[in-house]
Amino acid sequence: MKIFLDTAELSEIRRAADAGLIDGITTNPSLVAKVADGDVTGMYREICEAVDGPVSLEVVAVDRETMVSEGRKLAAIHENAVVKVPLTEDGLKACRDLVGEGHKVNVTLCFSVSQALLAAKAGATFVSPFVGRLDDISGEGMQLIGQIRQVYDNYGFDTEILAASLRHPMHVVECMLIGADCCTLPPKVLWQLSKHTLTDKGLHAFLKDWDEAGTAI
Ligand code: G3P
Repeated sequence: MKIFLDTAELSEIRRAADAGLIDGITTNPSLVAKVADGDVTGMYREICEAVDGPVSLEVVAVDRETMVSEGRKLAAIHENAVVKVPLTEDGLKACRDLVGEGHKVNVTLCFSVSQALLAAKAGATFVSPFVGRLDDISGEGMQLIGQIRQVYDNYGFDTEILAASLRHPMHVVECMLIGADCCTLPPKVLWQLSKHTLTDKGLHAFLKDWDEAGTAI
């Protein structure tokens, strides 16, 4: 399963990329608004240069024509750029247009299997179902990932399932067991994956024993 980092914070992106742990980046307008300093295009270019993999950059228009025009500009920033469009009627049409021009497209804000079907029919490279936001309203976010997996496998769709809005390590484990193609994680969740209290306890005991023996490597 590919791991993407869900952030526009360059320091976090460089920290994870430096560890060789991430396969790409996803951003959205809310994440970008937290760190934007005016030159968004420059920031997007720096993010694309910091990783060797797809970087989702989202349009902010809501009509097909303007989405396509924004999408072309975003795709032109860097070869890693993937245009992110919302799962609306206009977004699906813009997806089809942009894919037809050879661009990669991530269809985002997916909350149902029927929406995921249409994203695949529109030729999306990625579909982003939002697990945590469904859980937030007492839905079954992870069940959605499983159902989309089954439908895509039943019919041979090659759109990749990019599980988004993941909030904790068990979400990531469940995505792997279900067979999501990719998951996107906030930096905090990425680093939580490495933590285990028995690792810390074991390391502490090893080093204490070593020190007491007074040996050196
Ligand atoms: O990038 C989209 C998604 O991952 C957002 O997550 O936590 O704001 O629902 P969240």
